[in-house]
Amino acid sequence: MPTSRTTAKTASTTRKPTRKSNTAEQMSNSKFHELFMEELKDIYWAEKALVKALPKMQKAATSEELKTAVGDHLEQTKTHVSRLEDIFDMMGKRAVGKKCEAMEGLIAEAQQGVEDTEEDTMVRDACIIIAAQKVEHYEISAYGSLRTLANVMGHSDAADLLEQTLEEEKHADSLLTEIAESTVNEEAAAE
Ligand SMILES: [Fe+2]
Ligand SMILES: [Fe+2]
Repeated sequence: MPTSRTTAKTASTTRKPTRKSNTAEQMSNSKFHELFMEELKDIYWAEKALVKALPKMQKAATSEELKTAVGDHLEQTKTHVSRLEDIFDMMGKRAVGKKCEAMEGLIAEAQQGVEDTEEDTMVRDACIIIAAQKVEHYEISAYGSLRTLANVMGHSDAADLLEQTLEEEKHADSLLTEIAESTVNEEAAAE
């Protein structure tokens, strides 16, 4: 009968999208998971590269204030590496890095800036601060995105660790702004 057939058809078409959307959701969750793991490998490589690069920046800096700030952030960076290793562990994966072209470029520019400026000058410090803030901004965006992805996937433990690092990166960035302002002020007063 036309009426019952229509009813049956309607029922089947209303059920099908539900099943489809569950499958689609699972697929998109696994795609988000892949994306999350790729981004995690990127920032893991970047943080490890910074552990190697920061001592050179610390040595090249002029003011004690900047040397201390870079040194303190080096210690925090080591913690960032171990937090990432904890997250790999939570995901049941071995911690592996994947070369981050952006961080490699930022570090190369920082080293170039040091080479192009004279030792024991505030200009060199300004150059290091600019490079370091570019690095912080990269990290802030990477950790913000990773934290959001972790939350979306329901990995709240990973999201908490990412949030802690994110806050430390933001704090390091603000501190660099303060040092930049005092560096410029001191230089202006000396002239
Ligand atoms: Fe970091
Ligand atoms: Fe950082």
